[in-house]
Amino acid sequence: MSLIAPSLLASDFLHLDRVCKMLNESEADWFHLDVMDGRFVPNISFGIPVIEHIRKATKKICDVHLMIEEPEKLTPVFKKAGADILIVHFETCKNLHSNIQQIRSLGMKPAVAINPHTPVEFLQDILEDLYHVLIMTVNPGFGGQSFIPHSLEKVREMKKMIRKTRKEILIEVDGGITLENAPALIQAGADVLVAGSSIFQSKDPKETIRLLKRIA
Ligand code: DX5
Ligand code: ZN
Repeated sequence: MSLIAPSLLASDFLHLDRVCKMLNESEADWFHLDVMDGRFVPNISFGIPVIEHIRKATKKICDVHLMIEEPEKLTPVFKKAGADILIVHFETCKNLHSNIQQIRSLGMKPAVAINPHTPVEFLQDILEDLYHVLIMTVNPGFGGQSFIPHSLEKVREMKKMIRKTRKEILIEVDGGITLENAPALIQAGADVLVAGSSIFQSKDPKETIRLLKRIA
């Protein structure tokens, strides 16, 4: 059964207490928290104080997706704020291996995200050091975009690469995920589904999470 990581970017920021309560009661596995700096991506979302509050409101895993330049400068701060998993972007890290070591040494699980234009092969030499890889299925920066179909092929290729390592490295997919395209992604090898708009804009978010979770 796949893991479901609702992206709070699409939730009601005025009532994050209610959002956390609903997610705690739901079958969601992780809280996916998108941090944007207005430099790496052309948007700014939320930052450390918000994550600290969300941390206090849930015992579920906080999966923090950093869409920021120079993430190594803030890695300890995100640990202190309560991140369990820290995702950095391949495209922003000049010294990716040392960034991964830093995340691990602070007691978080390291993950690397790749943009739609970045080939999965670029992660070959770092793969065995990762808890999961995040394949962006839209361009990062905004919720509510359409899924890029080529991503399916990238998930398949990544799955092959992971099998060769004989390690359990998860594949997370993020962007434009819906009840309609989730089955193909899981079939291709995705283990963790991030979904923002399709959950929070649905009539019954808890039920949408349940349905996503039920997709074999
Ligand atoms: C995009 C973020 C995603 C986004 C997903 O930059 O990384 O996590 O919130 O939102 P939807 O599901 O609406 O595409
Ligand atoms: Zn994300």
